[in-house]
Amino acid sequence: MINQLLQGKKGIIFGALDEKSIAWQVALKAHEAGARFTLSNTPTAIRFGTIEQLAELCHAEIIPADATETTDLETVFGRSMEILGGKVDFVLHSIGMSMNVRKKRIYPDLDYEYFMKTIDISSLSFHKMLQTAFKMDAINPWGSVVALSYIAAQRTLYAYNDMADAKALLESICRSFGYIYGRERKVRVNTISQSPTMTTAGSGVRVMEGLMDFTDRMSPLGNASAEECADYCITLFSDLTRKVTMQNLYHDGGFSSMGMSLRAMRMYSRSLECDECPEVD
Ligand SMILES: NC(=O)c1ccc[n+]([C@@H]2O[C@H](COP(=O)([O-])OP(=O)(O)OC[C@H]3O[C@@H](n4cnc5c(N)ncnc54)[C@H](O)[C@@H]3O)[C@@H](O)[C@H]2O)c1
Repeated sequence: MINQLLQGKKGIIFGALDEKSIAWQVALKAHEAGARFTLSNTPTAIRFGTIEQLAELCHAEIIPADATETTDLETVFGRSMEILGGKVDFVLHSIGMSMNVRKKRIYPDLDYEYFMKTIDISSLSFHKMLQTAFKMDAINPWGSVVALSYIAAQRTLYAYNDMADAKALLESICRSFGYIYGRERKVRVNTISQSPTMTTAGSGVRVMEGLMDFTDRMSPLGNASAEECADYCITLFSDLTRKVTMQNLYHDGGFSSMGMSLRAMRMYSRSLECDECPEVD
């Protein structure tokens, strides 16, 4: 139970597709914490996902938008301010997609049209969101913007593909815009680097089950779930973190500080003779 930590706060949550989505869990927690907010996703995701159930649970309106289109983003911020009765206090960017991953194009054989799409959807949309909000002056002072990232931005992880490059850019945008937004409007901007999580986007990554098992064994606290990630998001939306900005914050059970753990070493020792990944990428 989150004790009304966001009472009186207004926000926008992008990226809830179904109940596995990290954004879905954030919406449930934000509602429980007393916030009012709008939800946004693409028309296709709204049609094929289950966001309408979430909207009902949270008494939230859904505003369709492709986050790569600035005109759509203007509509989301404009409508949200109308619906919620003023500027917002928090924004969640929980958006990512790679056609190269979907179509199983490996890293030394990328399709560059797909690559540009990956960057546009997974990284530039964050800049577009911040720029739109900044120009429309849509976020209150001491407001908080959070995007979701992954440790492949810093370290190479087998099969994460062009999403690694997209996350590196996402985190850089967080720092660059975080400086401007903090200086000019006292708005904070952060990314959360989350453990691998079995969502629709997550399960697109080849060998996801093996990756999740590995990171769980490597992390002293184990993998962080979508629900736990949502708890962390709520603290970043709250007034308890007013001086945290321009950070990439690891939410991964300690994985990012590990080199080798006892549990991983035990497993590795057992399977020294086994090499199940024949493709080279
Ligand atoms: N699942 C993981 O292992 C994991 C780990 C770390 C970070 N993340 C990040 O968390 C975020 C949320 O992903 P998730 O795991 O909850 O999966 P998800 O598939 O539930 O969410 C991804 C969302 O992106 C939306 N989206 C795609 N293209 C869009 C566009 N053009 N405009 C607007 N929305 C668009 C989808 O409709 C979907 O709702 C992503 O940024 C992802 O990279 C996921």
